[in-house]
Amino acid sequence: MIKVITYGTYDLLHQGHINLLRRAKELGDYLIVGVTSDSFDRGRGKFSVRNNVLERVEAVKATGYADEVIIEDYVGQKIDDIQKYNIDIFAIGSDWEGTFDYLNEYTKVVYLPRTEGVSSTMLRAETTTDIKVGIIGCGRVAHRFPTEAAVVNGLKIVAAYDINEGICKSFTEVNDGIIVCKNIQELYDSVQSVYVATPHLSHYKYIKDALNAGKHVLCETPMVLNGEQAKELFKLAEQKRVILMEANKTAYCPAFNHLMVMIKSGVIGDVVDINASLSKLWDDNKSLREFDPKQAGGSLYELGSYPLLPIIKLLGCKYENLSLYSRIKDGVDMYTKGIFHFEHAVCSFQVGLGVKTEGNLVISGTKGYVYVPAPWWKTDYFELRYEDQNKNQKFFYKWDGAGLRYEIQEFISCILNRRFSSARLRRRESICMAEIMQAFAEHRNFNKI
Ligand code: CTP
Repeated sequence: MIKVITYGTYDLLHQGHINLLRRAKELGDYLIVGVTSDSFDRGRGKFSVRNNVLERVEAVKATGYADEVIIEDYVGQKIDDIQKYNIDIFAIGSDWEGTFDYLNEYTKVVYLPRTEGVSSTMLRAETTTDIKVGIIGCGRVAHRFPTEAAVVNGLKIVAAYDINEGICKSFTEVNDGIIVCKNIQELYDSVQSVYVATPHLSHYKYIKDALNAGKHVLCETPMVLNGEQAKELFKLAEQKRVILMEANKTAYCPAFNHLMVMIKSGVIGDVVDINASLSKLWDDNKSLREFDPKQAGGSLYELGSYPLLPIIKLLGCKYENLSLYSRIKDGVDMYTKGIFHFEHAVCSFQVGLGVKTEGNLVISGTKGYVYVPAPWWKTDYFELRYEDQNKNQKFFYKWDGAGLRYEIQEFISCILNRRFSSARLRRRESICMAEIMQAFAEHRNFNKI
């Protein structure tokens, strides 16, 4: 029996795929088709795949050519599969000519003619009109956005607005195709969605205006510093039938998500303690917004939403008590430590702009613990550790670019699929973070150190 194997994403299954599968099947007696997993595709920069892995597997099966469908999940798997399934022929479309010659060492490699004039990329482009995005606030934070958005399909940044027109002009000079808007109305007139990257205290007003204008909003973290405001904005978004999302980059990255779902599935038992810290030592340059009390500067506002994320995601929003300890200088916290007491757990976090500390994440459970080294907020690696060290596991991932592409992709996907809440960062979780920021502002359970 001649066994053939072929691989692909098979998104929006088209005639080119069907022809390829038929040709591959004709090479032998038994055809195995490897369909890429969603995370594998994201890991290799394919952010725009429309069908999920289950839909793609079903589509391949429905062609009737595959005798077996497997999932391709890691680099190097082709060699493993060829040996594991005793493969005689590896077949792939001619667009890959030469790429898989290294497999000749293990099996016969055949490049099959590709069907001209059709591809998933083409079909995706034909069926999507790009969501037009406008940027509000063209300062330091916004500069990373266009490069990251460029790798995500389905959106186009067309306009920008900044209270300081000069800053807006310099921004558009280095980013092609973006028009400078003289006022916010001009921006709303040219887009369906906005990315808010202004200083914290202006978020509330910009978000509210944009939602009232019927625009989808992706807002930099911390979205707002007050729980009631967060609730009000999410409610308004719902009424207006638009998406409101907080751009907390860690929340949307694949590795962090995998870690969260693994812990929720019980790999370390019940979570009893979480310790998350993050420090970013700046020269306390008074001209920086981060050190200006009038602009909500300070460690907690600036960095807090990152360590709060694993705590809230894993233990929820119903803590019994939160104590906050801060070292204050010139009106802003240079360092803040928070201690949460949940019914069956205790957690702590540390954030510092003027104090350096080990920036790792440790999640302790009844069966084992998770260790994520700094910079854990750009998660690309973590370890599961147990009493019996033979059971320890290490997980490696890719963190691409500045990491904003994951939140941008989720934002566009929510808009296209009319999903009003993302499981990656739920509305109630964003609200809870805003409530914690508010508790800090109101000095509830607060101690100076
Ligand atoms: N294929 C083909 N003819 C086409 C398109 C794809 O023969 N017109 C083949 C590819 O060479 C590969 C298999 O189909 O062997 C699966 O390819 P995949 O990457 O899933 O399809 P594409 O349409 O090329 O997808 P994309 O545009 O996302 O790269």
